[in-house]
Amino acid sequence: MVGAERKGVKHKPPALRRLRRDRLPGYAARMPDLTSRLGNLTLATPFMAASGTFGYGSEYAPIVDLANLGAVVTKSLSVAPREGNPTPRIWETSAGMLNAIGLENCGLDVFIEKKVPELAKLPTKVLVNVVGNSIEEYAEICTRLDPIEAVDGFEINISCPNVKHGCRFASDAADCERLFKALKPTTKKLLLAKLSPNVTDVAEIARAAVEGGAQALSLINTLLGMAVDVKTRRPRIANVTGGLSGPAIKPVALRCVWQAARACPGVPVVGIGGIRSLEDALEFFMVGACAVQVGTTNYLDPDLLNRLPGELDAWLKAEGYADLKPLVGSFKA
Ligand SMILES: Cc1cc2nc3c(=O)[nH]c(=O)nc-3n(C[C@H](O)[C@H](O)[C@H](O)COP(=O)(O)O)c2cc1C
Repeated sequence: MVGAERKGVKHKPPALRRLRRDRLPGYAARMPDLTSRLGNLTLATPFMAASGTFGYGSEYAPIVDLANLGAVVTKSLSVAPREGNPTPRIWETSAGMLNAIGLENCGLDVFIEKKVPELAKLPTKVLVNVVGNSIEEYAEICTRLDPIEAVDGFEINISCPNVKHGCRFASDAADCERLFKALKPTTKKLLLAKLSPNVTDVAEIARAAVEGGAQALSLINTLLGMAVDVKTRRPRIANVTGGLSGPAIKPVALRCVWQAARACPGVPVVGIGGIRSLEDALEFFMVGACAVQVGTTNYLDPDLLNRLPGELDAWLKAEGYADLKPLVGSFKA
């Protein structure tokens, strides 16, 4: 501009010039900020790997750049080891899958001894997904893991449909509030409440979790379903019922996230359910999620988690957004 003026070049008046944000001075230096706040945590990107679909993170390290993730959420952890349900426990459905793994895991002692040293090496945040048969069991896990540096927070799974009483704390608001009230004093780390779609009013449960002390909400866990082998007239999975996940559940998940976000203004919400593209993730951001988790798609297209940050970066640039704020909750009903 200065050089051009010196040469006596005449410029169009500013009102007539097309405003190209990418040509504004310093624009190139201002890459969109992909970070997302979740309670007391800052995630590098809003993309996380969902519990039960990503092992303990290191299994995917050869194919997914874990530094691109906001966090890895571990497989549900219980105090005692669990073998899970009898097989067959997975069945592919139209646009999704049914699973009844039944929270198979190594238990708290082995987790601390064998898994924590591996989790400590991950170049991303680690959220431990916690399950319990009682408030005391949930509290024991949070209490024992709270001092461990590799653990950045807890996703409290109150929503597993594949075990007896798995949804007790997700389907009764008073029980849910009581659970989070008991967990709050056990840790200063993030308490994320993972909610179930298998309830009448998800907004009521979301409010109860926050009232009890959850700093953030994640939803949804799987939807209870089943499949029948018509030749044998027997169930496709040994547990009879299982949890439905994948693209088939995305509309339900979006509805739940939207209702929870409206019920709990200002509380960070993590959207989960059927995400297989940036466009899917954008839908969740627009209805109020500040981060999302990818689950079933990790089996089919594990590269999605590699692509999403770059695709979001390009989308934000094209919209002229410096960060996620103008996107989150921008949906208009
Ligand atoms: C095989 C499998 C195992 C899962 N295990 C867990 C688990 O241990 N704990 C949990 O909270 N959610 C578990 N989930 C639920 C997912 O974390 C996620 O909430 C759900 O699958 C919906 O997301 P998606 O449609 O992207 O898969 C599991 C899902 C699948 C498919």
